[in-house]
This record gives sequence, C-alpha cells and structure tokens, in this order.
Amino acid sequence: MNRFLSKSLCIFLALSVSALASAQKFDGLADTPAMGWNSWNTFDCDVDETMIREMADAMVETGMRDAGYTYINIDDCWHGERDAAGKIQVSKAHFPSGMKALADYVHSKGLKLGIYSDAGNTTCAGRPGSRGHEYQDAQTYAEWGIDYLKYDWCDTENINPIGAYTTMRDALYKAGRPILFSICEWGDNQPWAWAKDIGHSWRATGDIYPCWDCAYGWGSWQSLGVLKILDIRKDLRLRQYAGPGHWNDYDMMEVGNGMSEAEDRSHFSLWAMLNSPLIAGNDLRNMSETTRKILTNKDIIALNQDPAGVEAMRYIDAGDLNVFLKPLANGEWAFLFLNRGDEVLNYTHDWPFNLVKDDLTGRSIDFNREIFTWRDLWTGDKGDTKRNLKLAIPPHDVVVLRLTPVK
Ligand code: GLA
Repeated sequence: MNRFLSKSLCIFLALSVSALASAQKFDGLADTPAMGWNSWNTFDCDVDETMIREMADAMVETGMRDAGYTYINIDDCWHGERDAAGKIQVSKAHFPSGMKALADYVHSKGLKLGIYSDAGNTTCAGRPGSRGHEYQDAQTYAEWGIDYLKYDWCDTENINPIGAYTTMRDALYKAGRPILFSICEWGDNQPWAWAKDIGHSWRATGDIYPCWDCAYGWGSWQSLGVLKILDIRKDLRLRQYAGPGHWNDYDMMEVGNGMSEAEDRSHFSLWAMLNSPLIAGNDLRNMSETTRKILTNKDIIALNQDPAGVEAMRYIDAGDLNVFLKPLANGEWAFLFLNRGDEVLNYTHDWPFNLVKDDLTGRSIDFNREIFTWRDLWTGDKGDTKRNLKLAIPPHDVVVLRLTPVK
C-alpha cells in the first residue's frame, strides 16, 4: 500500500471510530428515576388530545407537578398511518391539532411530553412500529418536541434486541433533542446486563395488573400483581445493575386503580424503594384524596429521588414479613417493613440483633455502636434505635422509616 493510501485509510478509520464513539445516549436525563404519568393502565388504546391536555392540567392542579412528576406519556395507539415518504402521522381523529401543538401545551404547563413506539413492524396494539424507520421517527419526535420515548418489543421475531435498541438510541442522539429512552422488552433478554449505556431505564418484568398477588392471563402471557412483580426477578439481584442514569423499571403504577388503600401505599413505597421510575397510571382528573396523598407523599418520593441512587435490598425475607433496606445519601437509611399476608402482623425489630451489611455499597450499620433516630414516613411517628421497634402492620400494608445517624 502506498503512503497516500495508508494515510487515507488511517484517516477514514479514525473518522469512523469517532463517528461510532459519538453516538450515545443523552446524559443527565435520569440522574434520579423518571417521574410522570402514562395513559396505558387506565385508558388502554383510548387516547386523545383533550384527555392528554386535561391530564396535564390535573398534574398541576393536584400538586403532582410540585411533588416532582414531570412527564405526561402517551402510550400505544396515538398513531395514524405513515405518509407517502414514510413519515409517521398522528391519528387525525384523536389528535386533530397534531403532536407539536400538544407538546407546546404540555410544555407551557412546565411539564414534558412522552410518546410510545416499538422496535418491530407493529406495536403491541397493532399500530405502525419503528422498524426500518428509526432515524426518520426519531427526527419526527424531535420536531414535535417530544421528551421521552417508551420503546416496546412486540412483533420483533428474529430481531437482535441489543442492535434494535442501540439503533433507536443512536437515532435519537442524531436527531439532537434530548429524549429520555425507556426500554420496554419486559426483561426477556436480560436488559440489565447490556442496556446501561443504551437506555435510561429498562422494564424488568412483564405488565403490571392492579391487584395484590394475582396473575391475569391473556393467553400466551400474564399480567402480574404487585407481589408477583416484586418476586419474579428476586434471585437475580437486579439492584447491582441500577444507578444514576440507568434504572430497573418495575412498570407503571396502579395506585388509585382499584386496590385497597394499604395495597396502594405498599405498592408506592416499594416502587420508591426500588428506584423504579414513578409513573402514575390512574386518572389524575378524578382521583380520590386518599390516592392523591399517596402519590404526593414527598418523604416517600425523596427515597426514590435520593442522590445516592441505590436500589433497596431485601434484607429479611421471612414468610409474610419482608424488610427492605435502602442506603441513602449522607449516612441515612430507609427501612421498609412489609406485611404480605392477610392478617395483622405483630413483629418486634431488635436493632442490634439485626446487623446491617450491604455488599454492593460496602455500607454497614452496627446498632450497638451507632444510634439512629427514625421517622415514620406515613404517620410522622418518631423514635430511635435504642429501643426495640414494636410493629403491628395491617394486612398488605407497610411501615416505612427514615433513619438518621445521631452525631
Ligand atoms: C406492552 C407494554 C405495555 C403497553 C402495551 C401497549 O404490553 O408492556 O406497558 O405499552 O404494550 O400496547
């Protein structure tokens, strides 16, 4: 090879490598888990611009925005057909003003707009997917002013998941608008092992169902109640894969969608402790005051949004009693005591007897040497770790304490 050719080859290779290296996910969009609302759990395919605008209004009026919820996410079924050039259109019947106008409205409320697509030819509800149109769709979403993309995994036989999700990540990056990328392939291809640099979160499980411990069959697959979602990946220690910018997603919440108050409180507290994105799935326009209070409990939200970004660990797993611990910033900890069972659970927690050691963070507590004060984040009760903690936890309920070291 002559010198000119070899020099040209070197330059070409260097440019190719830098072009490859420059495609990445957008940084800084999910330093803490995303918070927002999504249409699917309540509205299924029944989405339109009036409802979405009203939901943005309700997000503000109910105090949800001030509590930290930011995204208004339209799930499946907003789509029309592709035009002659392949550009995706919104359903004119349901979004007559178009997506750009809707994004402008949502932004005017201090909120962000999310949208949904799928890596296959069709979405799970049979609408046009993004396969083969990734760069074009990402460009369209950026033009519309979209801020969040949930990217599903229906109709993807013979598609490589790492390749498919990387393609859409790169397409979003090229389009240039920072769009949070939410991977939704239900944990089927172990996304926790490869998606850290591709998406900002990945669904760790199949779809949720608004019940405590049921499974609802849809033929070839099942939706899962709160405890089933909590347990299905238990042995995989998924917390080791999560951290600022890349979270395990235990699916959108069902708070306010028919479970009991205790169940909703537990569901919300658990999702917060697990650093799951907190995406409400109820009708915010007419939720009860009980539901509103659960979703806007700032102390519970603060656990989810804690800057240390460490997912809770299941520390005691003893029949109806589960205890989850979450190391927080500044030497604090959260303790969640869950009663999975149908009877009141009487339990006395002996602090010194239960030494704490977290292999993931290297943090530990020896309550013989260190005293903490605690505050109950649902009742406001206070105490310290000098005395045993005596609990009577109602069925399906939780007690959540924030522990602060006494200096
Ligand atoms: C899948 C997803 C759900 C929802 C539907 C829409 O089932 O897991 O969260 O987006 O598709 O069709």
